[in-house]
Amino acid sequence: MDRETQICGLGFYVPDKILTNDDLEKLVDTSDEWITTRTGIKKRHIVEDEACSDLALVAAQNALQDAHLEPQDLTHIITATFTPDSYIPSAACVLQKKLGIKDIPSCDINAACTGFIYALDLARGFCALYADAKVLVVASEVVTSRVNFNDRSTCVLFGDGAGAVILSNSGEDGAVLEDVLLKADGSLGELLTVKGGGSAYPLTFGQKADEDFFVQMQGQTVFKHAVRSMSNIALEILKKNNLSVEDINLLIPHQANNRIIEAVGKKLEFPPEKIFVNVQDYGNTSAASVPIALAEAKQKGRIAPGDRVLLVAFGGGFTWGAALVKF
Ligand code: ACO
Repeated sequence: MDRETQICGLGFYVPDKILTNDDLEKLVDTSDEWITTRTGIKKRHIVEDEACSDLALVAAQNALQDAHLEPQDLTHIITATFTPDSYIPSAACVLQKKLGIKDIPSCDINAACTGFIYALDLARGFCALYADAKVLVVASEVVTSRVNFNDRSTCVLFGDGAGAVILSNSGEDGAVLEDVLLKADGSLGELLTVKGGGSAYPLTFGQKADEDFFVQMQGQTVFKHAVRSMSNIALEILKKNNLSVEDINLLIPHQANNRIIEAVGKKLEFPPEKIFVNVQDYGNTSAASVPIALAEAKQKGRIAPGDRVLLVAFGGGFTWGAALVKF
């Protein structure tokens, strides 16, 4: 690829309503102590009456503002989500309408929690094809729409939110998207599922939603794969780019669980102070977790000009991926 793809704007948004561990104690047989020690999560933001495209809209507007661009400047929209407003129209098309623009290509992609990293690579492709590309990548999830609040083993883990970036070939002050690496292993798909309503598990008219409609997972097995896959792909993208852990100023891993993040940090021999963690405030927001963390890290001054940031994510499918960004 000859052209240099840049990230020229960052933004994120989480809904106002907060669900604390104490709130969850009133819903299921759990405790703040259990949730905190097993996951590090203290609270998560959840929607009241907002859909995926509503969260995406505010995150996108924040990224546009950061890039000093107007919606009319965009050439493509990619929305990474497994919780779109509807199957049809896509969240990206609904978002396009809410942004007040028309005609530009817009579609959703689903790679579960790795969706943002997948979307970055697709956007990189658009930038390589079109010299004037200004691609909005927004990862937006209303995970709670697919969480069973009777299942204590999953309902404590997730939250809602959106994160957005704008990619282009030009922005002189932009951060360079140096590389992206993606993987998937469909043979492990059954370990983490949301099956109900799909064509293999169609809903019949009048049928009530059951457990299959919601996130189900084999937590301990997912945990092990998440640690192994994220550590391995981080090392692989570093090796591919002739870099080492010392060349990375900040690691931004998928914010699923603090114990997974700590285990990845240990395997990579990454000092904890060089790992960005906000899972305590948002829980696991699936595809949105990495761009929320990236935008928040920048906002909080954790990323300085010249810093190299390593993004790494893991999700259902299984899918996993990594990206290198030089600010
Ligand atoms: N509160 C209290 N007790 C609970 C809760 C809860 N919320 N949930 C489960 N328990 C109980 C279990 O019933 C079990 O009880 P038992 O021993 O009497 O049978 C006990 O706690 C231990 O359960 P485990 O499942 O063994 O707990 P574990 O230490 O594995 O932690 C957890 C569970 C947090 C889900 C962990 O496995 C994990 O983090 N897995 C990865 C999950 C994840 O992050 N997935 C997403 C990654 S990909 C993506 O983002 C979609």
